[in-house]
Amino acid sequence: MALTPEDVPVATVTDGSRVVPLESGSTHSLTSEKDMIKTLLHECLQAKAFAYCPYSKFRVGAALMTNEGNIFVGCNVENACYNLGVCAERTAIQKAISEGHMNFRAIAIASDLEDQFISPCGACRQVMREFGTEWDVFLSRPDGSYLKMTVDELLPMSFGPEDLRKKKVFSVHNGC
Ligand code: THU
Repeated sequence: MALTPEDVPVATVTDGSRVVPLESGSTHSLTSEKDMIKTLLHECLQAKAFAYCPYSKFRVGAALMTNEGNIFVGCNVENACYNLGVCAERTAIQKAISEGHMNFRAIAIASDLEDQFISPCGACRQVMREFGTEWDVFLSRPDGSYLKMTVDELLPMSFGPEDLRKKKVFSVHNGC
């Protein structure tokens, strides 16, 4: 599905550190799926503009919506010590968690890839999974077309916090 610029609503989000709800008292049910997708696609494209990627020159933007309708955006932030770079998706998730939000409805991702939907890396899939398996990930292309997948579809048979609480055949008694 392709969006025209007129389809895309004006941003109703964060200034980078402050999160503004979509509308006063907005909840999951009040924000239609269609509006949510348009908004997230618009926001992740905007977030991409802030990518700090002097090494890869590969810009990525992400926009995360909570069940309450708050939006957190993120971009990739690279480092001269290459392995310290952080992906856009994790930037957005860490912003949300660090501001007290952990119930996620959806995340949209944008890159400059012309013909391909940007696909989240394995590390980001695992970090998304920490906060549930049944929420949506929108993999987009610069023209606004997208693929909708769940976290579970992107990371099947995953390991998560619930597994740590399951019955074990051996108990470690060293404080773990
Ligand atoms: N990157 C992301 O931010 N998200 C993705 O989904 C894929 C890759 C970043 C990491 C790195 O800064 C650059 O893209 C090249 O791998």
